[in-house]
Amino acid sequence: MILSFLLLFITAVQHHGSSAESSHGNKFQHSSMKEQNGVQDSQHEKVLTVAGEGTVHSPNFPRTYPRNTVLVWRLVAANENARIQLTFDERFGLEDPEDGICKYDFVEIEEPSDGAILGRFCGSQAAPGTQVSKGSQIRIRFTSDEYFPAEPGFCIRYSLLPVKVPEPEIPVVVPPSLQSVDVLSEAVSGFSTVEEVMKYLEPDRWKLDMEDLYKPTWHVLGKSFIHSKKSRGGTDLNLLKEEVRLYSCTPRNFSVSLREELKRTDSIFWPTCLLVKRCGGNCGCCHRCYNCQCTPTKVAKKYHEVLLLRYSRAGRGLQKSLTDVALEHHEECSCVCKDDADG
Ligand SMILES: *[C@@H]1O[C@H](CO)[C@@H](O)[C@H](O)[C@H]1NC(C)=O
Repeated sequence: MILSFLLLFITAVQHHGSSAESSHGNKFQHSSMKEQNGVQDSQHEKVLTVAGEGTVHSPNFPRTYPRNTVLVWRLVAANENARIQLTFDERFGLEDPEDGICKYDFVEIEEPSDGAILGRFCGSQAAPGTQVSKGSQIRIRFTSDEYFPAEPGFCIRYSLLPVKVPEPEIPVVVPPSLQSVDVLSEAVSGFSTVEEVMKYLEPDRWKLDMEDLYKPTWHVLGKSFIHSKKSRGGTDLNLLKEEVRLYSCTPRNFSVSLREELKRTDSIFWPTCLLVKRCGGNCGCCHRCYNCQCTPTKVAKKYHEVLLLRYSRAGRGLQKSLTDVALEHHEECSCVCKDDADG
């Protein structure tokens, strides 16, 4: 009996003595001993599916837990949208912290997705407060070293927090019929078919409106209907819209002079001009903009093989060779408002 007390006293002195001398040495000693003792791999975790309530506790709770132990539990909520709540039993006691830091025996709560430590607890002053997972999982890690196991250890009751149903955010949408002419005009201009426009204006009865639109009531018919005598309405509005799109501000065929484009006044090229894609067409449908310009938004360099004629410096007449010239092609264009740039 006396002998075992003496032994405990000696180990106690070693424990605190070495940490006072050199914390680095102490750490190293700890880890090397752990390796020798073959403490469980800390990555080896027990996965628990949480559908209701349950508990996780240190071995032998509420009696003294064993030394040299690492235990990891990963709690996974059965419902992905649920959160897990951890409540510590009032009876709580692990080896005391040193300098306010839990270094030896402790229980840690971790966020599994990024390994962030939500809390590390030890000592025996007060049981830790309630913890709640960030996502649908949470990890509990218990570590004890080779000295001073305490009692009672810890016991954590886990439970599912009720699923939070995100309240659908009701966007503040002004119904089209209440919008100003400017706002409505801009919204409507974005659609490419009559159907889309009607759906936007009357989500509930747009089909009826479409039918009404094409009903040949003679007194509202335009001249185009009388002339074209189509069975269903006058003009194909969708086609008109598409035509405008095709011919306003798009990459189109342009001829460029190679001498001018390449600034090579010493050379003659054949062909003299090449066909390139450049942004062209107007931007008449720009909204609330006085100076709207058709501007390239995607440019590519393409190589073209041409005949190059050049007088040699040595005066040996005309050199003729094939050469590659790089020309810019505009692949995408869009109407950009330059009001600010001017102002
Ligand atoms: C541009 O030129 C190419 C090559 O000759 C031709 O295939 C294409 O149809 C032309 N595009 C337009 C919009 O005229």
